Amino acid sequence: MQPVYTKGEVLKNIKVSKGIYKLSIKGDYNANMGQFYMIKAWDEEPILPRPLSVHDVDKDSIHFLYEVKGKGTERLRDLNKGDIIELTGPLGNGFDRLKIKGRVAVVSGGIGIAPMLYAAKTLKDLEVDFYAGFRDEIYVTCDIKQYVKNVYISTDSGTYGHKGYVTDCLSESLRVGGKKYDTVLCCGPEIMMKKVVDICETNEIPVYVSLESSMACGLGACLVCTCTTNKGKKRVCKDGPVFLGEDVVFNA
Ligand SMILES: Cc1cc2nc3c(=O)[nH]c(=O)nc-3n(C[C@H](O)[C@H](O)[C@H](O)COP(=O)(O)OP(=O)(O)OC[C@H]3O[C@@H](n4cnc5c(N)ncnc54)[C@H](O)[C@@H]3O)c2cc1C
Ligand code: FES
Repeated sequence: MQPVYTKGEVLKNIKVSKGIYKLSIKGDYNANMGQFYMIKAWDEEPILPRPLSVHDVDKDSIHFLYEVKGKGTERLRDLNKGDIIELTGPLGNGFDRLKIKGRVAVVSGGIGIAPMLYAAKTLKDLEVDFYAGFRDEIYVTCDIKQYVKNVYISTDSGTYGHKGYVTDCLSESLRVGGKKYDTVLCCGPEIMMKKVVDICETNEIPVYVSLESSMACGLGACLVCTCTTNKGKKRVCKDGPVFLGEDVVFNA
């Protein structure tokens, strides 16, 4: 199966923090929270498109938040207003709105915050608390604030909010408030997601995690993105990227 890539015009590509950029593409896009697009802004190197989560969708544009890591994201960083990229999506199974009930905690680590603005916006009618962990500088939390009840922030450096891990904040909230959430959504480094899954297991709260992996086709055909779950090998691009936390076998 050949993916159908369409062209998209860059409206903005702005730096929001050190190494973190927001790319806005013109057009009428429709996606669910936690879904992603495969994006390409090059003909040759680095050849493969790169997966980016839907950060936000407006009436006439879609937004992606990305951290510059290697060749692909460096190319994205160099885009200017009016440049044309290629993209296909929305892809994958995102956070399932029908499974999210009651009081919700949304937990992110670092660039794992990327899909959570659109998640918070989609869930704005529920009671949502947002937990965000960063290394040092914080970003995007101001945009999310308007959709949620409480925001808890941690930084490794102690520059802002709790000095330590975002999982400390979640544990403390549950210790003080009892079983105060009916559902938890999580995206971030694997080690952090594993910790969140453990905390949720102890507190008997269902948790949905958005996994990352390298990808090639993004469509379920090449098996580059395979992960291990209690239900066998799964493709992050097609079966996920969102999985029930208790099903995932973490490597971290
Ligand atoms: C479903 C999905 C959604 C994603 N959404 C976002 C998003 O919204 N914003 C964002 O910034 N990133 C997101 N990512 C990760 C992003 O796709 C990678 O960071 C990007 O492809 C790196 O490409 P690069 O060419 O810049 O770096 P590369 O040159 O490919 O890699 C640079 C370094 O980053 C590491 N790396 C590459 N890809 C990954 C990965 N997927 N996970 C962990 N480490 C990796 C490599 O091991 C290497 O050390 C997502 C990934 C997936 C699977
Ligand atoms: S990227 Fe090809 S199967 Fe997932």
